[in-house]
Amino acid sequence: MRKVILDMDPGIDDALALLLALRSPELQVLGITTVAGNAPVEMTSANARRVLEYLGVTDILVAMGAAKPLKHTLADALNYHGPDGLGQCNLPPPRLPLHPAKAWDFLAELVLNAPSEITLVATGPLTNVAHAFQYHPELPKLLAGLVLMGGAYSLTPYGKGNQTPFAEFNIWQDPEAAYIVFSSEVDIIAIGLDISMNPATCLTGQHLEQIKASHTPAARLTAKLVEYAIKHHGRCELHDPLALATLLDASLFDFISAPVEVISGNGWDRGITRILALGQAGELPLTHVAASVDGPRFLKLFLSRILEK
Ligand code: BDR
Ligand code: CA
Repeated sequence: MRKVILDMDPGIDDALALLLALRSPELQVLGITTVAGNAPVEMTSANARRVLEYLGVTDILVAMGAAKPLKHTLADALNYHGPDGLGQCNLPPPRLPLHPAKAWDFLAELVLNAPSEITLVATGPLTNVAHAFQYHPELPKLLAGLVLMGGAYSLTPYGKGNQTPFAEFNIWQDPEAAYIVFSSEVDIIAIGLDISMNPATCLTGQHLEQIKASHTPAARLTAKLVEYAIKHHGRCELHDPLALATLLDASLFDFISAPVEVISGNGWDRGITRILALGQAGELPLTHVAASVDGPRFLKLFLSRILEK
């Protein structure tokens, strides 16, 4: 079993990634840290616990993190994910308390107790991860790896922005944090829009019918989340489950390894993730950026995990 910590901003697709993680026997979720992104951090923290409690999971602790990006104000995505951040899925408010520590200290404590054993999966803005690396400079070297959903790399026709014409939401939201993380010594796998905007990785009405035919708790919640996305956006994009899937079956993807420069600030180019040639990169380390995906095989894996009894 691979030990993981999930840093997330649920969010419909974050919730789907959480369901996928909980339904995957290869993974042991040691803890969850929450960040502001799709919704304010109090709401993302409640949503993570709403999903856990719905599935009867009471032994995974949730620690709340940053309420805003390092240098910008929060621009949430409630217009996309619904006023509750979870597609109005009607889950009750959480009863489980939050872990008392800040996300970055909780993260550091878990990693220091199991050096080189834990993979961090970050599916929101990278604010918590940047704080963790700044407050605990030894962390990047002590993680087994970091898998993140973020960026638009122009590697496929889908690798354009979704927040601006050039920038992906998570990176755009906190480009200063992303810069810190992409420059650090942690080994990074990045899933960008190049992969997750490919229609072959999205759920459609036909998939929804298949999900509705199953009556397990995970399938019932998945159906509500997917139905909201399809009703409002025509399809359900699986950005964050794709990041998680790199840990379940890396052979679904091809990767290129290259230095990635993140453009910070608040100009037109805020949040651009630029792949550099090795000669241009200075001190920047290599990131493994997904360049292609077997969409049908990914969807099959996702559905089988969610629908299995
Ligand atoms: C990313 O932005 C968020 O809205 C999604 O949860 C995903 O992590 C996609 O750009
Ligand atoms: Ca997310």
